[in-house]
Amino acid sequence: MYDTNEMILEFQSKSQNESFARTVVAAFAASLDPTIEELADIKTAVSEAVTNSIIHGYVDCVGIIRMKCSISENELTVEISDKGVGIENIEKAMEPLYTTRPELERSGMGFSFMEAFMDSLEVESKVGVGTTVRMKKRLGKPDMMKGYAQEANQKVV
Ligand SMILES: Nc1ncnc2c1ncn2[C@@H]1O[C@H](COP(=O)(O)OP(=O)(O)O)[C@@H](O)[C@H]1O
Ligand SMILES: [Mg+2]
Repeated sequence: MYDTNEMILEFQSKSQNESFARTVVAAFAASLDPTIEELADIKTAVSEAVTNSIIHGYVDCVGIIRMKCSISENELTVEISDKGVGIENIEKAMEPLYTTRPELERSGMGFSFMEAFMDSLEVESKVGVGTTVRMKKRLGKPDMMKGYAQEANQKVV
C-alpha cells in the first residue's frame, strides 16, 4: 500500500521565514528518500514562491503565508498561498525575465525556476484576493519499490 501524508504551516511574510519554509519542506519530503539534487530543486522552488509572497504579495506590510504539503505515492505537492495584492496577468508574470520590481534587482526568473525544478506548476491569482502556487514533483522510486528491493536484497536503480 502506498502511504500518504499531509501538513499545513502558516507563517508571517518576513524574509527570515524563507529559509525556514524551505527547510520544513525538505524535512517533510525526507520520507521519500530524495536525492541531494532533488532536495536542492525543491528548496529552490519553495524559496522562489515564498519570496514572491513576501516581496510581491505583501508589499510594505506583513501578512500570513500558508504552505500545504502532501505526499501521495512518490509525489510531493507543495501549495504556497498568500492573501496579498494578487497578479493581474498571470501569463505575463510567468514569462522568463518579466518582473514588476526591477528596482529591487529582481531577475524575473522565479516562475521559470519553479517550472524547471518541479514537474508541474499551477498559479491561481486574483487581484486584491491573493495568489496560490501549486507545484508537484515525483521523487525517485515509489516506497513500494524500495520495499521490494529491500526484500530481494538488491538496489533499485
Ligand atoms: N505572490 C505574488 N503576489 C503578487 N504578485 C506576484 C506574486 N508572485 C509573482 N508575482 C508577480 O509575478 C512577477 C514575476 O515573478 P518572478 O518570476 O518570481 O520574478 P521576480 O520575483 O524576479 O519579479 C513578479 O514581478 C510579480 O509582479
Ligand atoms: Mg520571484
